[in-house]
Amino acid sequence: MKVTVVGAGAVGASCAEYIAIKNFASEVVLIDIKEGFAEGKAMDLMQTASLNGFDSKITGVTNDYSKTADSDVAVITSGIPRKPGMTREELIGINAGIVKSVSESLIKYSPNLIIIVVSNPMDAMAYLTHKSTGLPKNRIIGMGGALDSARFKYRLAEALECPQSDVDGMVIGGHSDVGMVPLTSLAVRNSVPVTEFLSEERLTQVAEETKVGGATLTKLLGTSAWYAPGAAVSEMVKAIALDSKKIFPCSALLDGEYGLSDISIGVPCIIGKNGIEKIVEVKLTEAEKNKLAESAVGVRNTNSLLG
Ligand code: 2OP
Repeated sequence: MKVTVVGAGAVGASCAEYIAIKNFASEVVLIDIKEGFAEGKAMDLMQTASLNGFDSKITGVTNDYSKTADSDVAVITSGIPRKPGMTREELIGINAGIVKSVSESLIKYSPNLIIIVVSNPMDAMAYLTHKSTGLPKNRIIGMGGALDSARFKYRLAEALECPQSDVDGMVIGGHSDVGMVPLTSLAVRNSVPVTEFLSEERLTQVAEETKVGGATLTKLLGTSAWYAPGAAVSEMVKAIALDSKKIFPCSALLDGEYGLSDISIGVPCIIGKNGIEKIVEVKLTEAEKNKLAESAVGVRNTNSLLG
């Protein structure tokens, strides 16, 4: 499998690193507009191959999309990240133009590729990619829910005082501080509902900490996070490469699912070699249904800024 990662900043480099380390891709192309930057990151990463034991070949290129030709998957991380105090939505003005032109350049050389959108505001950027490329909807996937769910599991494990491997949980809705919907009703600790262990008050706290997971890190780091976003992307690309049919909450273009249409928003999806193979409609509580509907209003408001 050939994977292109657009943007060699912290998130893009982390995506390339985790994809290479997991050793399922034959080739990873890192592309950036800054002269020599992707080449440097790729060379540095390639010098870890003998240490980390991977055979994937990573190359870097400055803005030459012909080098991305025949990619199976492309990950778009380009654009500006948020600074402390900023929302993801505030990035739309700059990032929309970048994401549109990047996706067009990618398709020119890889007409059959699957695109994973990471740039923020992610749900709006995924929607824009659908509208501007017209690719079949299974081939454009927004990465948000896989990351937000990992942050949810981190917070759940912290509250439960147990390892993260003991917990499972999912976050749907928009990838925004207010729009995320952590599904506390479905979260489990080794098959036991977490509601058996945690009070409603503590679970509400877990949900709130999850929703501001990105903002908390942005405040600490001075820019947005990269390790967990890179790891989340790499797991999604791996599911495509191995056709594993794993479920990830992804921003998918909806056509009636969850009562929503003409919107990209986080819902559980089965991911395999065709990208989004199926949208899974899980039973939500009334409160969760209402939160998802409210989240969709927020995403549509952001989409309306696309013009
Ligand atoms: C985050 O939440 C990058 O939006 C991403 O960290």
